[in-house]
Amino acid sequence: QSPTIILGIESSCDDTAAAIIKDGKILANIIANQDVHKAYGGVVPELASRAHQQNIVPVVDAALKKANIDKKDISAIAYTNGPGLLGSLLVGSSFAKAFAMGLNIPTIEVNHMHGHILAHFIEESEGGGNKPSFPFLCLTVSGGHTQIVKVSDYFKMEIIGETIDDAAGEAFDKVAKMLSLPYPGGPLLDKYAQLGNPARFEFPHPRVKDLNYSFSGFKTSVLYFLKKGLAENENFITENLNDICASVQKTIVDILMINLKKAAKQTGINAIAIAGGVSANSELRKRFQDLTAENFKVYIPKFEYCTDNAGMIAITGYHHYLQQNFGTQQSVPNARMKV
Ligand code: KG4
Ligand code: ZN
Repeated sequence: QSPTIILGIESSCDDTAAAIIKDGKILANIIANQDVHKAYGGVVPELASRAHQQNIVPVVDAALKKANIDKKDISAIAYTNGPGLLGSLLVGSSFAKAFAMGLNIPTIEVNHMHGHILAHFIEESEGGGNKPSFPFLCLTVSGGHTQIVKVSDYFKMEIIGETIDDAAGEAFDKVAKMLSLPYPGGPLLDKYAQLGNPARFEFPHPRVKDLNYSFSGFKTSVLYFLKKGLAENENFITENLNDICASVQKTIVDILMINLKKAAKQTGINAIAIAGGVSANSELRKRFQDLTAENFKVYIPKFEYCTDNAGMIAITGYHHYLQQNFGTQQSVPNARMKV
């Protein structure tokens, strides 16, 4: 029997990415980042669509070359069909449908959030890896989402807690912006935090019901804290940058961990995973790792599968393929797709 080869395409936000998965193993994972947004302090949707348009063919070519796969051997093309920026999604979906039609192979529609979670099932060509078994809880934390998801099977997922306002990644980015760090500020804030004292400043935790999250009050409290500091000393931020970053990061991670542990207790599930861009955060990874001492089974993705990538789309496509779950040429992306 010939192998199952999936080309995965991701274009939901500002990264144009393509990956090849062969029988569950990753052979290539290529990403073109878009620098055009830096000058604007955030992603400009119109510019993102245009950059996707320019990048998509070279990125797919590079993935095929890296994987040493001929396009006529691809079994199906999996692409992100939502959630995300509509114009960005349209570039990936239009390309995927056209390429699939040209090759006379099926398309597979992938939910970006499924992708982040199922990234845990990507196998490296050297072999195995530490794949979670069902059921497990996944803390999905990205620029647009903050959710605790109960994952009972590949496509049986239930959100049991989520943010009622900002996402965790947004909280990182917005605080970073207040500190005049360039966009996206999350990774930079993390870098400075590693040099600072997390106990130096304290910020309030939100009061939210059940397993839900909120970061807007926290964000406002940081804003007032900085205003007060700057009123007393105009160099307050520069003189205390590392400690501010460390204290902010600790608070965000504390808030995330409290409900996740509560969720584990409520569901009786002690296998927990993190996914999404914020799972690249050093403090979150460390605190997660520490839970192994408390009898948790812990799953932390490799860095390259945390932030947006096409490997996660290809592996999700692979599992759809195994279930013969194919897309149609008529399908249009859904910017607000739910898990
Ligand atoms: O999953 P992702 O790449 O894109 C979305 O689907 O949103 O997540 C991007 C988010 C951004 O908010 C970025 O600042 C955040 O992930 N992020 C981090 C770190 N690396 C990425 N936040 C905190 N610490 C990091 N090391
Ligand atoms: Zn994402």
